[in-house]
Amino acid sequence: MPQSSNRIPCLNEDDVARAELPLEQAYTLPADAYTSDEIYRQEVEQIFRRSWLPVARTDQLPEPGCYLTMELFGQPIMVVHGSDGEFRVMPNVCLHRASPILEGSGKRHLFTCPYHAWSYDTQGQLMAAPLMEEATGFSEKDCRLTQIRSEIWEGFIFANFDPDAEPLAPQIEGFTQYFEKFKLADLVVVDTLEYDSRWNWKVLVENFMEAYHHIAVHSETFEPVYHARDSRIPDNTGPWSILHMPSVAEAPDSGLPAVDGLEDWQARDLFANAVFPFFLLGIQGNGGAWYQLLPGGPDRLLLKIHVLVPRSTTALEGFDEMARELSEAIAYIHQEDIGVNDKVWAGLNAPLTEQGRLSPFEKSIWQMNQWWLQQMSAKP
Ligand code: FES
Ligand SMILES: [Fe+2]
Repeated sequence: MPQSSNRIPCLNEDDVARAELPLEQAYTLPADAYTSDEIYRQEVEQIFRRSWLPVARTDQLPEPGCYLTMELFGQPIMVVHGSDGEFRVMPNVCLHRASPILEGSGKRHLFTCPYHAWSYDTQGQLMAAPLMEEATGFSEKDCRLTQIRSEIWEGFIFANFDPDAEPLAPQIEGFTQYFEKFKLADLVVVDTLEYDSRWNWKVLVENFMEAYHHIAVHSETFEPVYHARDSRIPDNTGPWSILHMPSVAEAPDSGLPAVDGLEDWQARDLFANAVFPFFLLGIQGNGGAWYQLLPGGPDRLLLKIHVLVPRSTTALEGFDEMARELSEAIAYIHQEDIGVNDKVWAGLNAPLTEQGRLSPFEKSIWQMNQWWLQQMSAKP
C-alpha cells in the first residue's frame, strides 16, 4: 500500500490510500470527495481555477462581434470573437461598479453596460464612459477588461484562470494524435440539450468514462452494439483518458457519413474521452457530442450536451431530419444515465456508504482519480 499522508485534510488518509492502489486493487474515491462542501471549495481553488476548461466552439461564434456568456464558479465571463478575428475570454463584469455587461449570446460590436452605459469594444477596451469628464486622471484608454488566458484546440476554445498554467496542447499530445484523422476542428454544433442536475460533477464524469455500465443501464441500447467486455482504455501519458468501445455493427446506424480517410474501426467504433477535469467528448466517425459541464456547487451541475457533426454533413439533403434523430438518440441515452446518476447521488449521501472496488474496466475512472488526488494534494 502506498504511503499515505494527510495531504487532503477533508479526506480520511486510509481512504485516499485505497483510491491510490494499483488499478487491480483500487477503490473508488470516498463519498466525501463528492458530497463535502469543503472539498468542492478546494476543487474550485486547486482544480477548476488552474485547469483548462472548455468554454465554446469557434463555430458557435462564427463572425466578428459574436459573443456568448456563462458563469464559471461565481465568475461571469464572456467569450468573444473580436473585430480583429481573435477569440477572447474576458470577465463579464463592468470596470465601473461591477455590473455584468452582457447577457446570453448575440452579435454586437459595442458592448454597453446596462447600469451607466460604459461601452466596450470587442477586445475589451473601454471606448466611452458618459459624464466622466470631471473625474480627475480618468481616461477611457487606460481601462480594458482583463484578458483571461485562452487556447484553441481543434475548434474548442479553452480558458484558464491561472496566468502561469502550462499550455494545453503539449499536455494532451497523445490524445490529439489519437483523433488526428477525425478532423475535430471541422465539427460544428448543430443542437444543444440542457440539463439541470442535482449531482456532483464527478458523478457524471465517471458515468461518461466507462462502458462497464452498458450491461445494465444501456442493456437494450449500447450493449447490443458496444459490448462492455470489449471496451478498452489505453494507458495515458497526461491529464486525459480515452475509452474505446469497439462496435459489432458494420457502421454507425445514424445514416450520417463518416469523415473521409478514417480506418474502418475508426469509422465504426465509439469513443468517450475526457481531458481532466471535465472536458468530455464522445466521438464517432460521423460526429459526436461535447458534454459541457458547469458545476454550480457540490450537488449542482448544469450540463449542456452539444451535438456535433462535420461541417460538410450539414449540407446533405435530409440533414435536418437526421440531426433531429441524432439529438433524440443522444437524449435517450442520457435519460438512461440520468436514472442511474440520481440513484448514485442518493447512495453517496447515505451515511453508511463505503468505498467500492473498481472494475479494471473502469480504468479511466482510476486514471482520473490519480490525477484528482494529485491536484487536490498540491500546495495551494
Ligand atoms: S456598472 Fe457598468 S457603467 Fe456603471
Ligand atoms: Fe451511460
